[in-house]
Amino acid sequence: MKILFATSEAVPLAKTGGLADVAGALPKALNKRGADVRVVLPKYEEIADEYINQFERIAEFQVSFGWRNQYCGLLRATIADVTYYLIDNELYFKRRGLYGYGDDAERFVFFSFAVMEAVRYMDFHPDIVHCHDWQTGLIPFLLRTRYAYDPAWAYTKSVFTIHNLKYQGIFGIDLLKELTGAGDELFVAEKLEFYGAASCMKGGIVYGDKLTTVSESYAQEIQTPYYGENLDSLLRYRAGDLVGIVNGIDEDLYDPMNDLSLHTPYRNSLSRKRKNKIDLQTELGLPQSTTIPLIGIVSRLVEQKGIDLIAATLDDLLHEEVQLVVLGAGEWRYEELFADAARRYPDKVVVWWGYSDRMARRIYAGSDMFVMPSKFEPCGLSQLIALRYRSVPIVRETGGLKDTVQAYNEYTGEGNGFSFSNYNAHDYLDTVKRAITSYHDEETWKQIVDNVSRGDYSWDVSAKAYLNVYSQLLPHRKENERWPVIL
Ligand code: ADP
Ligand code: GLC
Repeated sequence: MKILFATSEAVPLAKTGGLADVAGALPKALNKRGADVRVVLPKYEEIADEYINQFERIAEFQVSFGWRNQYCGLLRATIADVTYYLIDNELYFKRRGLYGYGDDAERFVFFSFAVMEAVRYMDFHPDIVHCHDWQTGLIPFLLRTRYAYDPAWAYTKSVFTIHNLKYQGIFGIDLLKELTGAGDELFVAEKLEFYGAASCMKGGIVYGDKLTTVSESYAQEIQTPYYGENLDSLLRYRAGDLVGIVNGIDEDLYDPMNDLSLHTPYRNSLSRKRKNKIDLQTELGLPQSTTIPLIGIVSRLVEQKGIDLIAATLDDLLHEEVQLVVLGAGEWRYEELFADAARRYPDKVVVWWGYSDRMARRIYAGSDMFVMPSKFEPCGLSQLIALRYRSVPIVRETGGLKDTVQAYNEYTGEGNGFSFSNYNAHDYLDTVKRAITSYHDEETWKQIVDNVSRGDYSWDVSAKAYLNVYSQLLPHRKENERWPVIL
């Protein structure tokens, strides 16, 4: 089974969030099970030299889209058993960061067309192109329109995965018409048109042969108006082709027993974990104590993550004996909220701005609890990493948080975290307070951490579920039989 992942980010090359973790780990897990999964993404400026130096340039060609004609370089390398291809165009990708530019529409339309052209030079004929989020949403569309009869794509099917329905890549119809060269008939309600504009995400949902999203709960939620971002009726229409498959984590990459960011490796020993806590407190200038509960946050600071609930109750929380360590970047109002708290409670709150893989790992290891009261959460990898590092998650019961965290039940002793249901600040605060009370009862806490340690947060089960989706798209054929390719 040959699968081409088209993605805008993938660990270890480029990352802004969980999509990169998935696009890094899932191919490995699938390849272990006998698939041949390769990954294509843009050649961003921020990909580290240690990786860029491993790539060889295998082709150079022109990509025509709309009236434009742009240079494209194609690079290839195999890193940790996965083959990566990079799409090179300095006009579009030699910039700081990954997204947020005024010409993002043009950059990712170019990327989508470049992927369509690049397969001619890959020596790899994908059975399936697996696209992720709006940046690659036009690939299933191109596969069924402009490239429908192109031999380079003969027999290829598409899978489109929604990692976050909120970010849809919505642009003016005129702009997308000009960029894609597609005619008026494709910008209608059943196709790309979306409330007077055009949506790249919708392209993936309308034209993908199969649709997946990253947890079973989110698959249900997005079919309702509250979570559906105005695409719920289309998603209900396509429900027969939509499946929710919960994310896992790469257990080799996130392993407290083998993590270069930590001084004291550990697995299930609470006393060794607490050495990492002291280490973190020392580095950040917090009072050193193993008895004060330390709460961690590693997050994009955006509305999705429930920061409003944290904001509304922050002072109440900080009247308790707690420490709060925040790593994140995002909206100014949230950065200001935590900066202000750190100024007012210097012995309790530390904020680390920006993106830091090292600090993230140190917080997962050094914290006792990890809060993630998201308004919505397609899956969430942070709570999975927290579980792997035995930091007990406190979450709202939504999307993947609901599917991966079971509330601790003091009567049965079951549960690997704490959770609440309504998007309500005081429900959130009460839940944190319950966690703090449990923390002070050593036996209870040991029980919870023990439950955490028995969970499976790997890709094992979910990788099989993806193989199942892929196989539904492939016609049954005999072992080792080659695809008939029209040339
Ligand atoms: P999302 O993709 O919505 O941001 P996830 O929980 O799925 O949320 O994934 C977030 C990923 O990004 C995790 O691997 C988390 O550790 C990482 N991350 C988030 N913010 C930062 C940051 N400021 N520095 C380092 N890593 C971060
Ligand atoms: C998105 C979602 C997050 C999910 C990640 C990977 O960024 O916000 O919940 O874990 O994609 O699927």
